[in-house]
Amino acid sequence: MSWCEKGNILIVGSGIVGRSWAMVAVSAGYRVVLYDTVHQQVTNTIQIIRQQLNELEGSGNLRGTLKVEEQMLLISACSDLAQGVEGAILIQECVPENLELKRKVFQELDDLMNDDVILSSSTSCLLPSKLFSGLKHVKQCIVSHPVNPTYYIPLVELVPHPETNPAVLERTYKLMKDIGQTPVKLMKEIDGFVLNRIQYAIIGESWRLVKDGVLSPEDVDLVMSAGLGMRYAFMGPFETIHLNAQGLKNYCERYETGMKRTLSSFGPVPEFSGEVMETINQSMSEKTPSDSESLEARRQWRDLRLAALAKMKSDSK
Ligand SMILES: NC(=O)c1ccc[n+]([C@@H]2O[C@H](COP(=O)([O-])OP(=O)(O)OC[C@H]3O[C@@H](n4cnc5c(N)ncnc54)[C@H](O)[C@@H]3O)[C@@H](O)[C@H]2O)c1
Ligand SMILES: *[C@@H]1O[C@H](CO)[C@@H](O)[C@H](O)[C@H]1NC(C)=O
Repeated sequence: MSWCEKGNILIVGSGIVGRSWAMVAVSAGYRVVLYDTVHQQVTNTIQIIRQQLNELEGSGNLRGTLKVEEQMLLISACSDLAQGVEGAILIQECVPENLELKRKVFQELDDLMNDDVILSSSTSCLLPSKLFSGLKHVKQCIVSHPVNPTYYIPLVELVPHPETNPAVLERTYKLMKDIGQTPVKLMKEIDGFVLNRIQYAIIGESWRLVKDGVLSPEDVDLVMSAGLGMRYAFMGPFETIHLNAQGLKNYCERYETGMKRTLSSFGPVPEFSGEVMETINQSMSEKTPSDSESLEARRQWRDLRLAALAKMKSDSK
């Protein structure tokens, strides 16, 4: 199985996230082996991938230089985990977000894997110390947290276990870059990792602004989509303030007092329930009712906009 120059990526769990990793990896010429305890799930996933790659090609959004058929040739199904591990350079775990289940899967893999392969988890919020502690191969373990939809949002948060070999972090970083993603390295684990910490800060303050009667929910969303988000699609908070004054130091000198005063006026952590939730739900449901069909239609709209944005970003590099 190791005939592929770039090496195999074994994907354990062929749901939404497993499928996204597979599509990204084959677009960069990696051979992907899909495994799932429900074998029918692998068959379904391969069918969906073919359909989605064809659609992406049709709309001019297919990643990489390989044609759909060439990419599909790189994907195979596997019903025996031991066989899948053979020749793998990366094992990307994508089973449901459940600590016990993930630990069971890692214990199984721990007995099958060699001393070189990287064992990487897609977990959204379980800490590496909870996931990997006690494994024989803990030095080869890492969290690689993708963002949905991975095909258009390239960020991957890499979170090492305290015992992860620094060389494994580096190798994972290079690999993620090579498959066309944008990795960031956390030096140590932290609750929520980083994307969600920043996202929750925004959600928290947005919630309070509605609760305090400052802004309607729709207008909060506009502050992001028509305001902050315009810049944030290209640059982060630090570069933003660097450019918004005579450099970062000057920004801090000028705005330090105002920033601190405003930040100290932030209220407590919201309950995310009750009357405010009713208000926000009401407002969101007006635009997109929360039945699965409407939500799916809106997701497709979102993905089209993201595809266009991703293309624009790569054209203007
Ligand atoms: N959905 C997202 O937006 C998102 C984004 C980033 C990270 N994640 C994380 O990715 C992981 C997977 O999420 P998902 O949305 O793809 O879930 P999912 O339910 O769509 O897919 C999980 C798959 O794992 C399979 N599975 C269950 N037990 C297994 C086992 N023991 N061995 C092999 N396969 C097994 C299931 O049959 C299913 O096909 C979770 O940890 C989730 O937190 C999700
Ligand atoms: C959210 O609001 C919509 C529209 O008023 C309503 O149909 C739906 O039941 C609400 N959801 C919940 C969980 O209250």
